[in-house]
Amino acid sequence: MSQTKGTKDPNDVVELLRQQHVRIRALFEEVTATKGEERKASFHELVRLLAVHETAEEEVVHPFARKNIDGGEQVVKDRVAEEEKAKEVLAQLDDMDPESPEFLDRFAALREDVLAHADAEERHEFAYFRQAADKSKLENLGRAVKAAEALAPTRPHPGTDTAPKNIAVGPVAAVVDRTRDAVRKVMGGG
Ligand SMILES: [Fe+2]
Ligand SMILES: [Fe+2]
Repeated sequence: MSQTKGTKDPNDVVELLRQQHVRIRALFEEVTATKGEERKASFHELVRLLAVHETAEEEVVHPFARKNIDGGEQVVKDRVAEEEKAKEVLAQLDDMDPESPEFLDRFAALREDVLAHADAEERHEFAYFRQAADKSKLENLGRAVKAAEALAPTRPHPGTDTAPKNIAVGPVAAVVDRTRDAVRKVMGGG
């Protein structure tokens, strides 16, 4: 079969964003299902991934949607408001003890909000991208999303001690700034 419906372009922005949503969802599960150091590591990974994901969306994905899909202004306005709120809560959680009851309460609320947000993006925004732009435009947006993703930490593989070069460390705000710079560099160059 040379042509299947399920053939996916790994550089397509919609595909990349959906994959990040899947990983975000999995990390929320992991944080809830673990304790101690394991929970800290999962939470750390989630915070950084979410920060780079939402920042890349704000920088390139939403501006594209605003201009190119029907009712884009309003759809994007709602999504950006949800992202602002999520980033605020993330920064608060980042300063808390992941074992505290307060952390768990706020984390559960954030999880609900973020998953609803991702779902709304997929249904009201990304679903229209393929009719709004051609393959090369979607790949161009995908490059920016990939540049952002490269800043998110990945768990070190056992037996290796080489850390990724551009690992995102520090407070959420710093990760957001660094992501913004990386994304703008890619978009400015093309
Ligand atoms: Fe988002
Ligand atoms: Fe998203």
